Amino acid sequence: MAAKRLVVLVSGSGTNLQALLDAIEAEGPDTYGARVVAVGADRDGIAGLDRARAAGLPTFVCRVPDHADRAGWDAALTEATAEYRPDLVVSAGFMKIVGKAFLARFGGRIVNTHPALLPSFPGAHGVRDALAYGAKVTGCTVHFVDDGVDTGPIIAQRAVEVVEEDTREGAAALHERIKDVERRLLVEVVGRLARDGYRIEGRKVLIP
Ligand code: GAR
Repeated sequence: MAAKRLVVLVSGSGTNLQALLDAIEAEGPDTYGARVVAVGADRDGIAGLDRARAAGLPTFVCRVPDHADRAGWDAALTEATAEYRPDLVVSAGFMKIVGKAFLARFGGRIVNTHPALLPSFPGAHGVRDALAYGAKVTGCTVHFVDDGVDTGPIIAQRAVEVVEEDTREGAAALHERIKDVERRLLVEVVGRLARDGYRIEGRKVLIP
């Protein structure tokens, strides 16, 4: 079966994108089941875009301030993404909530990775919020995107322990430990979805 087409969306350092690129390079797209066909971002000048260019991939940038309103931005992001005919869209550290047009076109095919154990600590500060709450265990969640904020059906999760030093040193070290686990989980999940297919039944994601 032909390798599935992935469009990856990023907003920052792009280490999750890099993990996907490395796995695809190491295994080969046919064995892994997917290849990245383009990388999109909501801002310029980020390492995630440099990583894409270094891998020889086409990139596109859709900035909210370049559009009259949020719906205009969402429509532009939808068109830019659709141009690459993705089977799956991977939101890998993409710090924007996609809108109605994007969901209408790609709903059920958008995978997001989040640095907390959803439904706890959704939103832009999942690591900081878990730490501030005093959680002793947090982690990462790979899930499908729906019209809420980090509310879509969960595909897989991994736990990461919060240690004593995290409370003194802040969220950065904890986030790095989570990302270590998260990158491996994302690579594993995207590969399985691509190779084996899946069904979404209500809140359940079934991978044969
Ligand atoms: C990841 O930890 C991802 O879960 C998080 O941003 C990081 C991106 O890292 N996303 C969110 O917080 C979304 N709410 P990366 O740019 O190095 O892949």
